[in-house]
Amino acid sequence: MTRQKTGLTRREFIDRASKTTAVAAAAVAGAPAVLAGQSGKKRIALVGTGIRGTTMWGSSVARVYKDQIEFVGLCDINRKRVEVGRQMIGVDAPTFTDFDQMLRTVKPELVIVTTKDSTHHEQIIRALESGCEVITEKPMTTDERKCQAIIDAEKKAGRQITVTFNYRYSSIAEKTKEILMSGAIGRPTSIDFHWYLDVNHGADYFRRWHAYKESSGTLWVHKATHHFDLINWLLDADPVEVTAFGDLRNYGRNGKLRGKNCRTCPHQKECPFYWDMTRSRQLMQLYAECESEDGYLRDACVFREDIDIYDTMTANVKYSNGVLMSYSLNTYMPYEGYHLGINGTMGRLDVRAYERQPWEAPAAAEFRITRNFGKSETSDLRVGAGGHFGADPKLKDMIFKPGTPDTLKQRAGSRAGAMSALTGVAAVRSIEGGRPVKIADLVKF
Ligand SMILES: NC(=O)c1ccc[n+]([C@@H]2O[C@H](COP(=O)([O-])OP(=O)(O)OC[C@H]3O[C@@H](n4cnc5c(N)ncnc54)[C@H](O)[C@@H]3O)[C@@H](O)[C@H]2O)c1
Repeated sequence: MTRQKTGLTRREFIDRASKTTAVAAAAVAGAPAVLAGQSGKKRIALVGTGIRGTTMWGSSVARVYKDQIEFVGLCDINRKRVEVGRQMIGVDAPTFTDFDQMLRTVKPELVIVTTKDSTHHEQIIRALESGCEVITEKPMTTDERKCQAIIDAEKKAGRQITVTFNYRYSSIAEKTKEILMSGAIGRPTSIDFHWYLDVNHGADYFRRWHAYKESSGTLWVHKATHHFDLINWLLDADPVEVTAFGDLRNYGRNGKLRGKNCRTCPHQKECPFYWDMTRSRQLMQLYAECESEDGYLRDACVFREDIDIYDTMTANVKYSNGVLMSYSLNTYMPYEGYHLGINGTMGRLDVRAYERQPWEAPAAAEFRITRNFGKSETSDLRVGAGGHFGADPKLKDMIFKPGTPDTLKQRAGSRAGAMSALTGVAAVRSIEGGRPVKIADLVKF
């Protein structure tokens, strides 16, 4: 642990350094580590101190659930970012760059995985093998081989994985589920689902590791896992078969103005995708000031020629209850939101969710139920505070507040994590092979 840029006073630095050394020394000697746990709070370790780890699963969890949990270790392969992350989270837990060493040293009961998607399986499996419960960010993993390894490890360890599908907890998703459960449109038979990412949010996925198939599994997995999970949960059914198309039509090789990253780009003035990350102190500290360790550029050019994911995607999915879905995901739209239409034996439900658009939206979402040979009724929805249409705080209550009721079955485990990720994996395999792909051919449960 170096003192450089830790922002600690000399006294604080010495206290922390001696604490970390004592913990590591105890572990090496085989003695019980200095465990924060005497308080009776759940001992939590977090791996991946990027923006998601330090905010959603870091500072807010440490503050809101301080009576239930205690951070006992933080890990990131970037030694500077883990220290910046610790300060942003505002805890006094020891920091590590080696995940196994953290597990051995602080012996957490629960591990939160917020690393890059393609490494989730490594931390999930090692945490399970160490006897920990696991909470992992979506997507649970990025390909069928890693997915099988996670499912097998969970069975063997007899411990539970929770996959944090926050979209299930948004007021819009909850209202949609309640309408379906009420039987207002009869039995669902087919779905049109179209998700629009705008030129700001959509472009952001092309600025860093998400833009590579090897790291994110493509947006079919990284992003669409949310959407596929929503449908699995709404229908209470599994995906069976996927046929998909995808192309790269706007970002990557399609651009004419190209640089290394926005901060150093000679085209700042004329490029519509120029993004000035220096305006965010948080991002500068977490990423720019840690670049020297691993070369991770948070503002890399969206027109890098080696980008190998799709930005324009369509799929047809067949479900175990016979429902057929037509789905699309586009990443360079003039507005942000989605349109979900569910056709049933007695009518149709239309949901239009508005996230960002260059006109005044009537509400966060508009709902319309139209009955066959009958009336059409509309209703609007205002949503609660908190990220993702008020979903994030509800998800965390479900996880950290014992006794929180789960009436809509929103809590998701490894099966849900697998089914949604595998729908995306099947879409990628379908595009690569030019054929329909069956989910059952990818993983055995
Ligand atoms: N549910 C949501 O709405 C939502 C939103 C944003 C991000 N996420 C998910 O959260 C995760 C983190 O996203 P982010 O935007 O913070 O990414 P990020 O790249 O900013 O942070 C990931 C961190 O993990 C570290 N890391 C990578 N490999 C590691 C390894 N093998 N061991 C230890 N540390 C490692 C990186 O150095 C980095 O600091 C991703 O899985 C992402 O899909 C979910």
